Amino acid sequence: MSITNELQKTITGMVDEKRGILAADESSPTIKKRFDAIDTEATEANRRAYRSLLLTTPGLGEYISGVILFEETLAQSDDSRTPLPEVAWSQKIIPGVKVDKGKGPLPGAPGDLITYGLDGLAERLQGYKQQGARFAKWREVYPIGRHNPTRMGWHANAEMLARYAAVCQELGVVPIVEPEILMDGDHDIERCADVTEAVLHSVFHALHLHGISLELMILKPNMVLPGQACRTAPPEEVAEATLRILKRTVPAAVPSINFLSGGQGADEATANLDAINRMKTNAPWQLSISYGRALQQPALHAWQGKPENREAAQHALLKRARLNSLARLGEYEPSMEKEGG
Ligand code: 13P
Repeated sequence: MSITNELQKTITGMVDEKRGILAADESSPTIKKRFDAIDTEATEANRRAYRSLLLTTPGLGEYISGVILFEETLAQSDDSRTPLPEVAWSQKIIPGVKVDKGKGPLPGAPGDLITYGLDGLAERLQGYKQQGARFAKWREVYPIGRHNPTRMGWHANAEMLARYAAVCQELGVVPIVEPEILMDGDHDIERCADVTEAVLHSVFHALHLHGISLELMILKPNMVLPGQACRTAPPEEVAEATLRILKRTVPAAVPSINFLSGGQGADEATANLDAINRMKTNAPWQLSISYGRALQQPALHAWQGKPENREAAQHALLKRARLNSLARLGEYEPSMEKEGG
């Protein structure tokens, strides 16, 4: 199969009108934070138990088309010794992998960040592909401050995303391009809109310069929201601002926009996605999810690190996946949160 056909096959398997992507790719320090909150030790065995619980959830493939894994998970198996990427495939969920190596300060631009991991990326990707991964994720992070992100910062970050995407496409791995503008801070929604517009504009400029096939990638952006210390905006306001900025910056060739949840509550992230899909008239892309916390938080709390809570946790995950699938169709109602499953 040609590389283009390979990429297209993955896109076709990941993008449809109903399903979304589960981000279960927390790095070791991040999953430790999540496990600390439920008093569970972050051992390799517990990470395996938790992630195999997620992937073996009966019926998950009805609402989820792709799962982003951490590299450790690619090599782990469920209780019946089936490798976890195979478990995903058996549910018609395509496995992918986070390939960036985290972030640090960007020299020359105090307050801005930059992500590591380009060195050796091609070799790592080849190995992940052999383990079953068909797509990858790379996240650049932009905190909003009085003077951040800087112009130099957004250019440097865009360049990283484009270089990563080029390596992926050359190897037949679909890149998820994730520029995340953080919710931290007391800025208003218009400030987030301005920063998101500048960032996405620079990202697509860099993707063009590096010859990325826009048809064969997925964008994973933040929604346009006020800072967490400012206020909470109603879903219609979030939807209006988010669609306005996406229409200005994201070419119609991109097949799917899969939002991150970024610290929104699970119900809030679903309500916002629903409002976006109700308001999206004539939007050329699918508008879906690639949520981590907003899909997993209720499941994690139901689990509490205890094998006897496994079913309750799967139930909680399936409920969030189902409600987000309804939100994709603009058919979610907050009253559904009270219903059992
Ligand atoms: P959240 O939805 O929890 O923000 O995680 C998504 C993700 O993959 C961040 O890189």
